[in-house]
Amino acid sequence: MEGFVWKVAVVTGAGSGIGQALAVELARSGAKLAICDVDTEGLAQTEERVKAIGAPVKVDRLDVTEREAFLAYADAVAAHFGKVNQIYNNAGIAFTGDIEVSQFKDIERVMDVDFWGVVNGTKAFLPHLIASGDGHVINISSVFGLFAVPGQAAYNSAKFAVRGFTEALRQEMILAGHPVGVTTVHPGGIKTAIARNATAVEGVDRDELAKAFDTRLARTSPQRAAEVILDAVRKNQARVLVGNDAKVLDILVRLTGSGYQRLFSPVLRRVLPPGH
Ligand SMILES: NC(=O)c1ccc[n+]([C@@H]2O[C@H](COP(=O)([O-])OP(=O)(O)OC[C@H]3O[C@@H](n4cnc5c(N)ncnc54)[C@H](O)[C@@H]3O)[C@@H](O)[C@H]2O)c1
Repeated sequence: MEGFVWKVAVVTGAGSGIGQALAVELARSGAKLAICDVDTEGLAQTEERVKAIGAPVKVDRLDVTEREAFLAYADAVAAHFGKVNQIYNNAGIAFTGDIEVSQFKDIERVMDVDFWGVVNGTKAFLPHLIASGDGHVINISSVFGLFAVPGQAAYNSAKFAVRGFTEALRQEMILAGHPVGVTTVHPGGIKTAIARNATAVEGVDRDELAKAFDTRLARTSPQRAAEVILDAVRKNQARVLVGNDAKVLDILVRLTGSGYQRLFSPVLRRVLPPGH
């Protein structure tokens, strides 16, 4: 992947946060865009920003959990632009709740969007990316795909799964000789609406949670995150950590092995409200 000029890039969850910033940065870099989200209002905002830059853009409402719709969408994007080069599987949701008090459906919902949404997007677009002769899959995991914390088991499970899925995919593309780069993204705290959009088990104060996230954890702007991600795509990096918090936490986990569990939970308990 040399650059982004006239590359066709698909961004899921493009109506807000990192997805919107990715769409804008891709447009600035000369890409043609297919943007989708369940939030059509946010999507319209992104469309306006991308069009103001002058990038060709296809805009669709798409729920990443709807597999058949995703498969049809991939064919529609390929037919519209004549090719597809990149898929940014970015759409995601958060949920806070200790396992003991979470419902099965709460955990399943997070897995459906954050893991199966990524699988659906990857599988739907892979044939088109291979056919392009210059493809790239970019899957958004999290620092929570590198280590686990109390109250985030559902999100941790989905983000660890995205990491495993994407790291296997990268090796498969290399072994098969397919012209498809693969990058796993592990953002630290990014200043987006994720905590405000999040759900939680009964009894958890969602406002307090969102406030704690916004004031104490979110350090990096979505624009900066998008710049870092696009730089990693340009270099076909296997993994990219976004933000200094992500880099420090990654080192701590490597140094301590499973010992991080003893170190992190008391600190996190002071920063975030408990998940029960
Ligand atoms: N913000 C952070 O600190 C952070 C850290 C690590 C990883 N991430 C990951 O980055 C990605 C983007 O999150 P963000 O921070 O920009 O959050 P955000 O809430 O601002 O944006 C997420 C977007 O995904 C969309 N979405 C949710 N469910 C969907 C579905 N079923 N189908 C299609 N679209 C759907 C939402 O409508 C929203 O527009 C997510 O995968 C998230 O887990 C975020």
